[in-house]
Amino acid sequence: MKEIIQKYLNEIAEFVADSPEQVEEFRIKFLSKKGIIPGLFGEMKNVSPEERKDFGQWLNQLKNSAEEKVDFLKKTLGKKDSGNEKAIDLTLPADFISLGSRHPLSIVRSEILGIFSRMGFSIAEGPEIEDDWHNFTALNFPENHPARDMQDTFFIEKNPDIALRTHTSSVQIRVMQNTKPPIRMVFPGRVFRNEAISARAHCFFHQIEGLYIDENVSFADLKQSLYYFATEFFGQDTKIRLRPSYFPFTEPSAEMDISCFICGGKGCRVCKGSGWVEILGCGMVDPNVLKNCNIDSKKYTGFAFGMGIERATMLKYQINDIRLFFENDIRFLKQFENAT
Ligand code: DAH
Repeated sequence: MKEIIQKYLNEIAEFVADSPEQVEEFRIKFLSKKGIIPGLFGEMKNVSPEERKDFGQWLNQLKNSAEEKVDFLKKTLGKKDSGNEKAIDLTLPADFISLGSRHPLSIVRSEILGIFSRMGFSIAEGPEIEDDWHNFTALNFPENHPARDMQDTFFIEKNPDIALRTHTSSVQIRVMQNTKPPIRMVFPGRVFRNEAISARAHCFFHQIEGLYIDENVSFADLKQSLYYFATEFFGQDTKIRLRPSYFPFTEPSAEMDISCFICGGKGCRVCKGSGWVEILGCGMVDPNVLKNCNIDSKKYTGFAFGMGIERATMLKYQINDIRLFFENDIRFLKQFENAT
C-alpha cells in the first residue's frame, strides 16, 4: 500500500501542465469522486486495524499534495502567457521586502551636517569613552570647580580619570591637538549623563559640536554662521537671539534662541508663551583652551557651538517625549518613512 501511495506522490510532484485543460484532467484523475484518491479512501475498510492509522495519514498527505498542486497550477497558469516554462512566470514582480526607514535622529543629524558642510565644515568623530583631561581639564574646567557639576558624569568605577564623555566638546580638543588651523569642522556623536530618565532628559543623547579656528575669526562670524543654520533648518523666516551665558571653554559665551517657528513669536505651548526657544550653546573659544592644545592664541581665534540632536528633532517634528527615540516602537518610526 505504502508503495502505491509513494508512486502517486512522485507522480504528483513531477507533474507539469501546459494548459488549464491538463490541470483539470489531473484533478479529475486524482481528486474527483471517482478519482484515485477517493478510491483509496474507499479501501480504508479493507485495511487491517493496526495499519489503518498509518494508511489514513499517508492518504491525507497524498490528498493535500494533489490539492496543493492543482491550486498552484491554476494560479500560475491563470496568468497570461505563462502556459509553458514549467508554469513559473518569471516576469511577475518579486515579493515586497520591507526595507524599513531611517531613524528620525539620523535624518536630522545628516540634515544639520549637510547645512554646515555647505559652509565648508568637514566632519570628524571622537571616542565615547574619554579621560578627564579631554572632557574637562583641557576645556578649562578648573579642578574642584563647581563648573564640573554642570554635567553629571558616569565615571568608570576603578579609574575616576576615565568617564563616558558628557559632551562632544571633547572632540574639539582631540582635533585641535593634531590639526593646524584653519580648522572648520563639526563633530557629531553620542554623549552620556547620569540623569534620571524622563520625557525631557535621558542618560544618553546626541550632540553636534562645531569648531572654527582661523586668524581673525570674530563673533560676527559666529552669529552669521548660526543664523544661516537656523534659517536653513527651521525655515527662512526664523530669527535668532543670543543671550549671554557661561561655559568654561568659551569667552564670551552665549545661548542661542530661535523665534518660535510654531507661532512665529506670538507665544504658544512650544515656546511657553515667550516666542523664543533655546536651541544651542556657543561662544568664542577661550584662549586657555587654545593654549592647552598648543595653538597660538595671539595669532588665532575661533568660535564653537554645541547642540542636542534630540532637542532639534523634538522641536522640528513636535515630539514631546525624548524616550520615544530609543524605544524602537515601529508606530513612532513609521511616521518618518517619507521624511528626508
Ligand atoms: N558642551 C556644551 C554642553 O554640552 C554645549 C556647548 C556650549 C558646546 C558652548 C560649545 C559651546 O562648543 O561653545 O552643554
